[in-house]
Amino acid sequence: MPLTRKAAAFGAALIVAFGVTPATAQEAVTADDYEAAMQELRYLATDTSLHIDASYWGDVGEDSDKIRAELAKVEAFWTAQEQPQAVEFATQAIAAARSIGRASGSQDRNAATAALTELRGVCQSCHAEFREETDDGFRIKPSALQ
Ligand code: HEC
Repeated sequence: MPLTRKAAAFGAALIVAFGVTPATAQEAVTADDYEAAMQELRYLATDTSLHIDASYWGDVGEDSDKIRAELAKVEAFWTAQEQPQAVEFATQAIAAARSIGRASGSQDRNAATAALTELRGVCQSCHAEFREETDDGFRIKPSALQ
């Protein structure tokens, strides 16, 4: 295979593997993008729960891909902020989303439910550490930002 074809195939494999385009991963994630990702994660976690209950395994698989794509932005944000603990939470959340994806493949309700519970636990742990409530909603703890 010529080198350029190989590179194209590799790029396509990356998109399949991570559910995000390399361009998305490289762009800086703003605080607005971050908040949008969080709102999206809230909807996706609810969808996942509904789809597990309904045994819509194809949808559960899609949910887990979307969750990983949002979490990739969260991870990129904290990597740029040089907050290793927050990056670690994002990494753990991505691992839990992968488990949801695997469980959807094997149509394993117990494993899917356990992985979603694990994911929600990571959401909460990160919120306890890095999120604070203000009069008009939530914000990132200012002390965590550069
Ligand atoms: C790596 C840390 C981290 C992880 C993991 C994380 N969050 Fe968050 N989340 C935050 C921070 C910090 C805020 C406050 C900033 C903001 O609201 O944009 C937040 C805010 C939110 C908000 C409020 C958004 C708003 O401002 O109205 C929701 C909803 C939310 N997260 C849902 C989730 C869900 C669901 C998950 C797991 C699937 C999750 N988060 C995982 C750090 C995290």
